[in-house]
Amino acid sequence: MHKSYDLYFVSSNKHKFLEAQSILNLHGINLRFLKSNLKELQSHSLQKIALAKAKDAFSKFHKPVIIEDDGLFIDSIEGFPGPYSSYVFKTIGNKGILNLLNNKRKAKFVSIITYCDKTTLKSFQGQLCGKISKTQKGKGWGYDPIFIPNNSTKTFAVMNNKNKISHRYIALKKFSKWYLRKKE
Ligand code: IMP
Repeated sequence: MHKSYDLYFVSSNKHKFLEAQSILNLHGINLRFLKSNLKELQSHSLQKIALAKAKDAFSKFHKPVIIEDDGLFIDSIEGFPGPYSSYVFKTIGNKGILNLLNNKRKAKFVSIITYCDKTTLKSFQGQLCGKISKTQKGKGWGYDPIFIPNNSTKTFAVMNNKNKISHRYIALKKFSKWYLRKKE
């Protein structure tokens, strides 16, 4: 049985927090939410955006924090929306994405989790390959209704085990392994 550790997740997105909280809870890490709009660097690199966000989060709250930066990368449109996923969702949304695509529908979700405290800045990456559905299915948040992971016939919004396979789960699993070792 692990000891329980407190850690802060800084984000403006409650959905991401709730998923991260339930994933890390299984590893004995008690995740708390600090709602905040962090600086979003303009960059093609999720990694660079995540590092800048984590530094900004630590400088605001002076507590050990994790932040997340994600993107949905669609092969046939050169990895678009990628680092612009949040903006694209708010503007053209899932309907707009479906209108852009033909038969080539391969895509992947990438998550970067970055930890920052007084002395350490470290990132962990999770990737999940899949495809974009032909129509929206289910009532999940963000791109959940249009993303079908490989080896599934259901979108993230319809399946009931998203938190056991997602890009977020993969990145957080790597993070928790490192973090628990650091805490020993
Ligand atoms: P950012 O990491 O805040 O820049 O946002 C990335 C965007 O990708 C989010 O605003 C969502 O629209 C989308 N996104 C990231 N992860 C997921 C997910 O697990 N499901 C659905 N949409 C996601």
